[in-house]
Amino acid sequence: MLAPTDNHPLPLCRLAALDDPGSKGFVVQGRQLFAVRQGSQVFVYENRCPHRGIPLEWVADQFLDSSGKLIQCASHGALFLPESGECVAGPCSGASLTPVASHIEAGQVWLDSDQ
Ligand code: FES
Repeated sequence: MLAPTDNHPLPLCRLAALDDPGSKGFVVQGRQLFAVRQGSQVFVYENRCPHRGIPLEWVADQFLDSSGKLIQCASHGALFLPESGECVAGPCSGASLTPVASHIEAGQVWLDSDQ
């Protein structure tokens, strides 16, 4: 689990390190995660497709479709809404990515501590 013993948020990355729109993969305390930026918002999910339970990307840091507006699993093309993680097309339609609570403060993306 991510829960740090000191109950403080964990720094993930600078907001400026994410393209807009853009995405980036991370390994945090042994967990595979990815972040998606859409304008001033950032959404963080576990990097595990609900279809087969495998990582979504084939190319490092590429989690978005060609429009930059949807998260895409490279294996079988499932598409997910960045803001909710809901699968809207593909073999796991109706299922959802697992969200990781985060927030932005002072130009930094933080993972919340209570998870
Ligand atoms: S593993 Fe993601 S769509 Fe099949």
